[in-house]
Amino acid sequence: MLNFLYPAARAILFRLDAERAHHLSMAGLRTSERLGLLKAISSKSDDKPVTICGLKFPNPVGLAAGLDKEANTIDALGSLGFGHIEVGTLTPKPQDGNESPRLFRLPEHQALINRMGFNNPGIDDGLANARSSKSFKGILGINIGKNKVTPNEQANDDYAIAFEKAYPWADYITANFSSPNTPGLRDLQSEDAAGRLLEVLKNLQTKLHQETGRHVPFALKVAPDLDENQISGLSRVFRDGGLDFLIATNTTLARDAVKGHRNAEEAGGLSGAPLTSHSTEVIAQFHAGLGQEVPIIGAGGIFSAEDALAKKDAGASLVQIYTGFVYRGPALIHDIIRAW
Ligand SMILES: Cc1cc2nc3c(=O)[nH]c(=O)nc-3n(C[C@H](O)[C@H](O)[C@H](O)COP(=O)(O)O)c2cc1C
Repeated sequence: MLNFLYPAARAILFRLDAERAHHLSMAGLRTSERLGLLKAISSKSDDKPVTICGLKFPNPVGLAAGLDKEANTIDALGSLGFGHIEVGTLTPKPQDGNESPRLFRLPEHQALINRMGFNNPGIDDGLANARSSKSFKGILGINIGKNKVTPNEQANDDYAIAFEKAYPWADYITANFSSPNTPGLRDLQSEDAAGRLLEVLKNLQTKLHQETGRHVPFALKVAPDLDENQISGLSRVFRDGGLDFLIATNTTLARDAVKGHRNAEEAGGLSGAPLTSHSTEVIAQFHAGLGQEVPIIGAGGIFSAEDALAKKDAGASLVQIYTGFVYRGPALIHDIIRAW
């Protein structure tokens, strides 16, 4: 039934400022969940489990990071059918993010531009929210980042703090070093810096595994704005460093596909349809470099089952959606699961 309700809800929400619409939708989802409405009206799909890194995902479709930054809407989003939900990005200390407006729609291109800047309640409050989730039976990913005020030389300390705190509560952890909205963050994607971050997190994972008896796999999340040389160099670093899996991709800085749109020159990361084929190409290139050893979760401009299957053909074991979910609603989740 939600498939029929969503277009009407979207027509109203798209009249509001984009960030206000986001907060209203999330509050509406939480209320509907509390009232037991979502389970009653959500579509049911046959589950198609996928196992990677020892984790059994009930279906191949996840929610990409950045929609539930506060980790306070997990049960409601789970009721819509997501097999995994990645909350965050959460940073060691809370931060407000950039000034509003910082989220823009480009409906003619089925796209968004955002420069949110990791607005989040901080890892402690984010984890407290996540712990109060009651009904979600899927896989919970916790996405971590560094605070804006932390210089890049100390970035790994921020990742280590957040990693250690998230470890007991996460099914997997993603270190996001590819947001375009924290100045200098993408510099951490150089081979040297990526290798050092991977080493820090790998050592921490080994230590925490020994201490807790639980192995929590982790991913790095990469930008689509990498050339072939960078991708093959990073693939070598990831394979040699024992990365568990990769998430590709984050938003892009490119604007060629949306030139001339009134919002095209807004600073930030572009997501949605203009990113579809490019992110698929990046996934294929990483898959060629990583082989079967390091699985990939594919994200970027998935608006249909065909888009998701193209990512699967390029080598993705699972997919995540954000902008397509905003434009198409929960029907997209079930379309993909059925076709997978
Ligand atoms: C408004 C917005 C906020 C986002 N915030 C985050 C974030 O905090 N952390 C992160 O790793 N990715 C974030 N992303 C990137 C998405 O997770 C995703 O990788 C990207 O948008 C490409 O997928 P899509 O085209 O389906 O949106 C954000 C995307 C959007 C549109």
